Amino acid sequence: MAVKKTVEQILEENPCIRDVEVHDSRRSIKSYVLRTSKLSKTEEEAIGLYYKDYGVGYRAELVDPADLFEVKRPVIIEIGFGDGEPTFQIAQSRPQYNYLGLEVYLNGFCSLLDKVGKAGLDNVKMMRFDAAEVLFTMIEPGSVDGFHIFFPDPWPKKKHQKRRLLNEDFARTLASRLKEGGYIYFVTDWQDYANQALEVLEHTQDLANEYDGFAPSMPWRPLTRFERKGLVQDFPISELWFVKKSQ
Ligand SMILES: C[S@@+](CC[C@H](N)C(=O)[O-])C[C@H]1O[C@@H](n2cnc3c(N)ncnc32)[C@H](O)[C@@H]1O
Repeated sequence: MAVKKTVEQILEENPCIRDVEVHDSRRSIKSYVLRTSKLSKTEEEAIGLYYKDYGVGYRAELVDPADLFEVKRPVIIEIGFGDGEPTFQIAQSRPQYNYLGLEVYLNGFCSLLDKVGKAGLDNVKMMRFDAAEVLFTMIEPGSVDGFHIFFPDPWPKKKHQKRRLLNEDFARTLASRLKEGGYIYFVTDWQDYANQALEVLEHTQDLANEYDGFAPSMPWRPLTRFERKGLVQDFPISELWFVKKSQ
């Protein structure tokens, strides 16, 4: 009987997926904590079966994300897709876009890999790497049609709030990577983070709020796992939709 590989062995054999563990990121305060539980058989198999078709390795050179896909379509980048269920559903229901998912959580990464691979989608690519680093060093300015940021880690304790993904610096990077008319769709169930994000985005050059304050929920956005958890506790959902202004 074959001996089951450890996560370390699997990563050793797939350096592109492991890179995030060894890379010294530009942003010293990280918006995530790397956590990995044992991979299930399905998650492990997904790497062997589908990474070659869907995985993109990190490289420190600017690329037009449209060139990562076989078929040219507008590109949406999702940051922190978790277990990827909403990513998968959106990619299926809105096939007119290509989706580049960024996630550091290995089990979630493998879970989306399994879903898109089994369904044979041709409009998804995935990177296991720090999104802050990817956007700044690898994504060409003016090349992205939209960003999805759904339920980013809220880092609720005051002393941890500097770890929140969306700060002034990151908002500037998002704006610079968007094409004119491109959008940022940000959703959180943490009121204090929602207010902070609204303020940061409103003060970011070149961005305009499409709504007066918070936005309505887009009918095509499915519930996420984190959203369901929050709803049980009666956390209100706040959504933001900003677009990049024409010069
Ligand atoms: C609270 S979870 C939400 C996941 C999913 N969007 C959902 O709504 O179910 C936030 C996710 O963002 C990921 N994340 C946080 N910072 C990241 C970064 N800098 N780059 C890539 N992923 C990140 C975390 O690993 C985590 O899986």
